[in-house]
Amino acid sequence: MGCCMKTLAKIEAVLLDMDGTLVDSDASVERAWRVWCSEYGVEASDVLEHAPGHPAATTVRRVRPDWSDARVEQAARRQLALQYDDLSDVIAAPGAVRLLATLDRLGLAWCVVTSADRTLARARLSAAGIDPPRLITVDDVRHGKPDPEGYLLAAALLGVDPGHCLVVEDAPPGLAAGHRAGMVTASLRGLQAEVMLTDLGQLAWLLSGWHDPGGWWTDAVGYEVYLPSFQDSNADGWGDLPGVTRRLDYLVTLGVDLLWLTPFFSSPMRDHGYDVADYLTVDPSFGADAGLDDLVRQAHRRGLRVVGDLVVNHTSDQHAWFRAAAESRDNPLRDYYIWRDPAPGGGPPNNWLSHFGGPAWTLSERTGQYYLHLFKPEQPDLNWRNPAVAEEVAAILEYWFARGLDGFRIDTAAYLLKHPELPNNPLLPLGTVSAINGVTAEWRGQDHLFDIHQPDVHAIHEGWRRIADRHDAFLVGEVYELIPQALACYVAVERLHSSFWFGLVDTDWNPQRMLEMILSAAAASPRLSWVQGNHDRSRAATRYGGGELGRRRTLAIHALMAFLPGTFWLYQGEELGLPNAAIPAGQGADPLADAQPDQSRDVARTPMPWQHGPEAGFTTGTAWLPVGQRPRAHTVADQLPDPGSHLSAMRRLLAVRRDLLTDPLGAELKPCPAAEGLAGYRRGHVFVLANLDDAPRRLDQLTGSTVFDTDDPTISSVNPGRAPTHLAPLQALVIRLDPSSAR
Ligand code: GLC
Repeated sequence: MGCCMKTLAKIEAVLLDMDGTLVDSDASVERAWRVWCSEYGVEASDVLEHAPGHPAATTVRRVRPDWSDARVEQAARRQLALQYDDLSDVIAAPGAVRLLATLDRLGLAWCVVTSADRTLARARLSAAGIDPPRLITVDDVRHGKPDPEGYLLAAALLGVDPGHCLVVEDAPPGLAAGHRAGMVTASLRGLQAEVMLTDLGQLAWLLSGWHDPGGWWTDAVGYEVYLPSFQDSNADGWGDLPGVTRRLDYLVTLGVDLLWLTPFFSSPMRDHGYDVADYLTVDPSFGADAGLDDLVRQAHRRGLRVVGDLVVNHTSDQHAWFRAAAESRDNPLRDYYIWRDPAPGGGPPNNWLSHFGGPAWTLSERTGQYYLHLFKPEQPDLNWRNPAVAEEVAAILEYWFARGLDGFRIDTAAYLLKHPELPNNPLLPLGTVSAINGVTAEWRGQDHLFDIHQPDVHAIHEGWRRIADRHDAFLVGEVYELIPQALACYVAVERLHSSFWFGLVDTDWNPQRMLEMILSAAAASPRLSWVQGNHDRSRAATRYGGGELGRRRTLAIHALMAFLPGTFWLYQGEELGLPNAAIPAGQGADPLADAQPDQSRDVARTPMPWQHGPEAGFTTGTAWLPVGQRPRAHTVADQLPDPGSHLSAMRRLLAVRRDLLTDPLGAELKPCPAAEGLAGYRRGHVFVLANLDDAPRRLDQLTGSTVFDTDDPTISSVNPGRAPTHLAPLQALVIRLDPSSAR
């Protein structure tokens, strides 16, 4: 799959082109060429097409092959002279200031390598407020770009091996020069290169991630793609990997760093991929191996990481291991699964229950024993007390990391081991139920002391962590442990890198309690993964009351979550503020819904509403699950151009988050009450607050600037405002505090 992203880890110097890359001088360059063209009687369009990235003399020679060398040289000088006189709108390119500050903070060398001459380069850089430690111009080389001479000279001056230099360019000649110099290339303006950037701020963010001792996932934004429902590319009504590839630019502009793809392995799809028949191949219905390879390659070029979904509590009953194990009691693979004789007198060996209804045991007629399955009978549980199982899974991890995956979400991470004696679970006292949703009522009536969350599971995670760390890969657990201190044990030093904290997905609207829970979870560990929803739960906007109220509530909570230390996650469609979809009776597909209709997971799994019209733009065929009659206002196409939309607010929030977190803020959160009834906290010089109440609230005077406001689309970190005096219900702000008040 190739792993261009990982090459950023070895970068020691960044070599930046000037015009169009570090400095925004497009208008001034164009004006100068137009004047030049009229002076020399040359057609402007010919010149403007060729000029970007080439030394002026190359462009002149190209349009006037008949001129003598002396004439070309004189005309090129004239062109540059015209440019010195016109620096009026030359400014630093977006993100340039942040990038240079980040390079200094990380101790990475940098240099400007430009096709301008020294006088012009100095004039332009100084107009943009940039003072490079080293500058290479056409005056320093015999051949300009696309010749690699300038870049090689820069590497030699900085004393850095060319293979450890990153060239940043906005035009093909410079990219070619970087490439020929044997350097890693990064491009702007969508040009092909090893890394394709939206702006220089993104490069600052990527480099600080790679050089962060906490790992690149620290402070990242993750996005869960529920693969069957994100985007179909071949009209079969079922989402696939080429469909995701088509939507990568949408995700990049949203501000995502990391994609979690729900399982793509070969599967009979009894639980939509969470029943794996072969861990080493990609299901043809998702686009087969080629579909995944292309997706990962394209994602990496855009600075996006991709993690898979490791489902190894159980396999499919169609997996070759289970087929062999079920053959006979003495099959060599028998012990890969958990088999027991019937209870004395017949029936299942103990009282354990399947999450999806009925007993967790199914009798295999052929051998007269029961096998364990905490989910469907078609999902037999692996026997993690057999070391051969651990070896198989270690090899699976090695395989995927070597192929370029950046990590895994670990399905049912706390389930793998069962109590060795398989004792009955006690029943909870009548009238009490476990806090976990997404299971049958009967399952919630037991105290799950013996079937899940066994303490020795950590040793398995530690083994995986050793493998992941060798590949710089990320492991995030699905652990339904709502007590933050208990959850923190799963992410203690050498265990999982992170774990989802599901306090919010299992809670309805209760602002006081939600805030207390969030802050206590953040205090328990700086490494948690923050979510409001996923493919297994009712959508947050619905749980919080539905309609406009529910939508605004999710946004206010997202604003509060965005600056918590750890990884911030969106489930597909949350960026649109989507509520649950309505599924007509008889058209659902969730196995849980058969046993527990009120817990149907289909409501959160309907296809992504890309646009209004047939099948919401998800497929040109018939969607596998109804798209759920979403109104036009819930579609991406409608929200994207509307500055007041939920999607636009989310994009602004994530942009501000990235701006403020490029420099580490530390993990400590401080309460910072600005007024009665407001929810908020301070992290470093960032103050986040929200009015979670139904009435407007007064806000004390703050010495800082507002860089995000749910209710004001004009506010951003480049266009900050003063904090308002009152906050409307569910209005949330991010405030950059003045350094003097930030202590
Ligand atoms: C996890 C998945 C869920 C699946 C179950 C069994 O909880 O998120 O969708 O049904 O594991 O693999």
